[in-house]
Amino acid sequence: MSNSTEMPSNPIKAGWESPSNIALIKYWGKHGKQLPRNSSVSFTLSTAATRTFVTIKDENRTGKVELDFIFNGKENQAFSTRVEKFLNSICDEYFTFLKKYSIHIDTSNSFPHSSGIASSASGMSALALCLCDIENQLNDKTNFDENFYLKASEVSRLGSGSACRSIYPEVAVWGHHEDIPGSSDEYAIGIGHQIHPVFKSFHDDILIISAGEKSVSSTAGHNLMEGNPFAPVRYQQANQRMKSLITALKQGNISDFGKIAEDEAMTLHALMMCSDPSYILMEEGTLSVIRKIKKFREQTSIPVFFTLDAGPNVHVLYPDEVENQVNSFIQDELKPYCNEGRIIRDKVGTGPEKIS
Ligand code: DP6
Repeated sequence: MSNSTEMPSNPIKAGWESPSNIALIKYWGKHGKQLPRNSSVSFTLSTAATRTFVTIKDENRTGKVELDFIFNGKENQAFSTRVEKFLNSICDEYFTFLKKYSIHIDTSNSFPHSSGIASSASGMSALALCLCDIENQLNDKTNFDENFYLKASEVSRLGSGSACRSIYPEVAVWGHHEDIPGSSDEYAIGIGHQIHPVFKSFHDDILIISAGEKSVSSTAGHNLMEGNPFAPVRYQQANQRMKSLITALKQGNISDFGKIAEDEAMTLHALMMCSDPSYILMEEGTLSVIRKIKKFREQTSIPVFFTLDAGPNVHVLYPDEVENQVNSFIQDELKPYCNEGRIIRDKVGTGPEKIS
């Protein structure tokens, strides 16, 4: 994909807001340069998002990336080091301008950093979109065509695998799957246009069970899959479930959708428990909430389901038409399990937006 070398006479700035996403079929296991062991599919969210501005200005003669990084209005050494390492890793192949100018990044999250919500998907996708936008400006291009988004997705993936799916509205697939035309291990594609309308207004209320730092990072968890004896079977299962879930998403089959989403959450955490060393990221509250959701569904027949990411927080998934009943249930029965009663009420969203 194209690389740019033009010299800007003035500072060039780009700003994008990009959302988080929640995987329904999980990416868990990777190889090579952030390539997935199986394909995954996610809902793009709308409330949990990152806003990032990137400015390139004075000439830089140091031969490496020169970064000045602000997170939520303040310097943040840990994030700055991670981003600088990432930019150094992509500059030669993707954006040569990164070594030629000093880079200023100003980024902030719409959700509190201490909420236990992963910000790498929204953060890396917002950054990748800004870099592609600056490249466009350097090349006097004004359109955001398919290749723009493909490159943004590919670059996001190199920052954090799941981030590549946040580039697209509604529903995105990452990882080659024989039944999904255009799917690739290198970048995600949007499949929102193929999805039944009932899923386009689906809710995802994120119950913050614990806001603490995870004991095992996702990256370490992916690496542990390489020695997990169940891994080959898991990758086959994921591909099979992809097929069934895509069918359910197209047909608007909420009960099939919910069963697969819940099975995936349980499988993800089972894989953690049978890694070597084994570990548990669920908390007591996670299990209590899962039991309550299943019981409520059995007793009322209201279609409400859960999924989990690589942590203790529970994502409560349900269609728009049962919003009021589910909201009362969450307030009355699930909120007591949340850290300081925290819940992020999110929904399927329309994807990243340029900030003008
Ligand atoms: C459980 O994308 O955070 O949320 O590629 O190492 O940055 P890295 O990992 P990351 O892993 C996400 C794992 C997951 C499932 C998913 O989002 O598909």
